[in-house]
Formats: sequence, C-alpha cells, structure tokens
Amino acid sequence: MPDDGKPRDLRIGLLGCGVVGGGLVKLIDKHRSELAANGIALRVTHVAVRDAQRQRGIDMTRFRVTTDPMAVATDPEIDLLVEVMGGNTLAVQAGCAALSRGIPLVTANKSSLARSLPRYLEAAGDRTAIGFESAVAAHIPIIEVLDRSLACEELTVIKGVINGSTNYILTFMERAGCEYDEALADASAKGFTEADPTLDVEGIDAAEKLSLLAMKAFGAHVSPERIHTEGITKIRQVDIQLALAMEHRIKLVAAARRTGDGLSLRVHPALVHRGELLADVDSEFNAIILEGPGFKELTFLGKGAGELPTASAVLNDIVKIARGGAGQLPGFHKQAGEGIRVADTSTLKLCYFLRLPVAEADTSAAVIALEAMGLRVLSIAQIASRDVNYLGVITDVVEEGRMMSLLPEIGSLRHVKGEPALLRLDKDNYRDIVEREQSAYFGASLQREPGARV
Ligand SMILES: NC(=O)c1ccc[n+]([C@@H]2O[C@H](COP(=O)([O-])OP(=O)(O)OC[C@H]3O[C@@H](n4cnc5c(N)ncnc54)[C@H](OP(=O)(O)O)[C@@H]3O)[C@@H](O)[C@H]2O)c1
Repeated sequence: MPDDGKPRDLRIGLLGCGVVGGGLVKLIDKHRSELAANGIALRVTHVAVRDAQRQRGIDMTRFRVTTDPMAVATDPEIDLLVEVMGGNTLAVQAGCAALSRGIPLVTANKSSLARSLPRYLEAAGDRTAIGFESAVAAHIPIIEVLDRSLACEELTVIKGVINGSTNYILTFMERAGCEYDEALADASAKGFTEADPTLDVEGIDAAEKLSLLAMKAFGAHVSPERIHTEGITKIRQVDIQLALAMEHRIKLVAAARRTGDGLSLRVHPALVHRGELLADVDSEFNAIILEGPGFKELTFLGKGAGELPTASAVLNDIVKIARGGAGQLPGFHKQAGEGIRVADTSTLKLCYFLRLPVAEADTSAAVIALEAMGLRVLSIAQIASRDVNYLGVITDVVEEGRMMSLLPEIGSLRHVKGEPALLRLDKDNYRDIVEREQSAYFGASLQREPGARV
C-alpha cells in the first residue's frame, strides 16, 4: 500500500471480454473489497471486443468499449494490459505495443506467446513484466512454482496431461467403449472443445503449452513447430482395450526432458502404466509432473481451463504485478530467448505398443517373428473387434529410428493381415515395472503365452 494508506489504483486495459475476460470482470467485482484491504484497487477502464453491441451479462457502460485492441494497448491511461482475446497477429501487436511502453502484460494466450516469444521479450526488455500463469494448466500455479519455489532446483523432466479436451475424449472412449468420433461429439456437445477442435485433438495446444513450460523449466525457448507433435485422432477403441488388458491407459502426454543429445520435447498419445499417477488423471483435469535429482518427483493436479480457473489465474498475475511492481514479477528469465539443442526424436529409446491384426491361431508365430527381428516382447494381449483378432504387443526399449524402419517389415509379416499401428509408452523402463510387480498376469506375459486371451 502506498505511503498515504490509499490502495494502489491500477487501470486495466482488457482485450477480450468472452469466457476468460468476462470471468475476470466478475472476479474483480466480487473481490473488490478484499483487494482494497490488501492495498490494491483494480479498475478495468478500457475493453476491446469484436462486437461492441453484444449483451454479455456485464454492465459494460462503465468501460470505454472499442473494437480496436491497438487503441487500448497504446492508451496512455492504462497501467496494465490483459490480453484474453486469442489469435496470433493482433494479439502480438497489441501486447508488444504495451510492453514497449513499459506497460506490463498479463496474457492467457499460449499460442501467441509460445510462437512469438522473442518479439514479446524484445518489447518487454528489462523494463516490464509478462504474466502468463493462465496460459498453461490454468488452475495449477506451475509457472510460479518453476519461477520461485524451484528456482534453484535442477530439473530433468517436466511432463504431463495438459490438454483437458483430449483427456476428456480419451476418458469418455474408455468409459463408454465407443470410438473417437462419438467421444468427440460428446465433448463438443458439453463445451469441452472449441468449435474447431483441431488445435486440441492434433496436439497443437499441448505443444504450445509444453513450449512455455520447457522455457520456464530449462531456460530456453523451443517454438511449438520444433516439438514432435501427434494427436489422438487415430486412437481406436481396440487400442484402449488392448492397453487396459496390459495394465495401461492411453493419455495424450506432453514431455520435455534433458537427454545426452539435448532437450527432447514430444507430444503424443502414450500408454501410461496404471501404477503411475498420470494414468489416473481423468476427464478435463490436467496434471504436471516434475522430476529432478534433488526432489525426485513432484505432481500437480487441477483443472486446466474454464471461465473461473482461467480468470482466477489472470487475476493472480495482476495482483502479483500490482504488489511487486513491473519488472520484478512474473516475467521471463532474460536467457529464455536463446537457442538450445533439441534432441533428434529418432535417437530416443522407448518401449512401444504395437496393434497387429493377427488370427488367433497365428499369435505365437507372430510374436516369434517379432523377436526374430530383434524386438523383445514384454507383454501381449488379444482382442477380437468386428471379426478381426488384434494382437497387442509391448516391446522392450528400442531406438525410435529403428522401430520406425522396422514397421514396414512388421506389416509384411506373413501372419499380420493389415497395417500395424504403433504407440509409444510413457516410460523407457517398462521392463523394471513388469519385473517389480511380478503379478500373475505379467508373469504369464513374460513367459510369452500369446495364445492366452485376456
Ligand atoms: N476459455 C478457457 O478456458 C481458456 C483457458 C486458458 C487459456 N485461454 C485463452 O484465453 C484466450 C481467450 O479465450 P476465451 O475462451 O475467453 O475466448 P472467447 O470466449 O472467444 O473470447 C474472446 C474475446 O476476445 C474478443 N476478440 C476476439 N478477437 C478480437 C479482435 N480482433 N478485436 C477485438 N476483440 C476481439 C471477442 O469479442 P466478442 O465477444 O465481441 O466476439 C471476445 O470477447 C485465448 O487465447 C485462449 O486460448 C482460454
């Protein structure tokens, strides 16, 4: 609180008054007296929207409403800019225009930030701050944790389930026993996806968030285009059933890890063993796991999106800036714009899941053929779906490049009656898990009894 005892008055320019922006206005109204008691008076003064006439269930007459975001960003009568309108062009121009005037920016726009980070950093210089807690797993304060709580910890891995829409779809497929299209339709009907779900289901949204997380965790910016990204559109019900039969669940996992070859960043569907915490993260929930030699493993769980979780993360960033002053709080480390070696995906060593159409009588022969190629088979399951018998196989660790080069050969095996499908496991130590558990099922798998129906 300033010396005169009056709350610090912060005039906010708000770009976007939709789900998040509208939620923010409501939250500021709701918490006005608590904020004032803490020496902070927040006042939304300017609002930019596309349609100035739209009814929003908010009294808009108290704001200067415009359809020109740049007019707000360059207005001398704002102290802080909040960008919650989305997009990659105007959002960057407006955000950078404010930053270059020394006006702090709070943004939920992961896409513009992850893709145009160097421009934002240049505009901010050392003068002002960018808060973006709401851009990644909104209700998990992971940016704050990386910035402060773990500032002196060495991190080796940051990974998680960070897209609620795809997690909802995969959870629905598992529970309802349906195919991808039906689960997508349910997610859309319930408002868990955008009108165009491509960014979510193709893994792009998760790659943008991973880019920001990795930047905070490892101090280097890898733009989303450089992240190996695969979505969930090819997952079939039979994959989910085969994975379950082998004690795994399928999740869209985003992972960044330090390797001997550089930083490995990947977003793809992965089989997660049911003993792992990540396997239990269902529906629209997000989870983030950090690994490091000092603290071993930390897990964070919470809602990743939605009006109030996201608006609340925006409000927290505003309050941090109001308390700490621009330039100190939640900003980027300066070195974040520098390059880093990104590991070549083909050199990664992982366990793999294969789904192969193989007649029940031929499964032993198919497994023997896989082993003859040098693939050690750790676990198998079979499921009949629409008159086709599918063999599911989990292999021991293989280099990705080698696995990819073997796929055509696997597809042309005499007993394999169609295209093989391949998914990765979340871990490269599945054999350890198998040997540790020694369950009756895994015991049977390791003794390779491929005929056993599960
Ligand atoms: N929704 C979530 O749960 C969530 C979670 C995390 C992050 N985010 C991010 O937050 C941002 C906003 O998301 P949202 O869900 O609040 O979107 P939204 O409901 O579609 O709201 C967008 C708002 O921005 C305004 N707008 C868009 N383009 C504009 C332009 N060119 N000029 C002026 N105003 C413009 C729209 O005006 P009209 O109302 O007049 O159309 C609307 O008020 C996005 O970057 C999103 O990725 C959202």
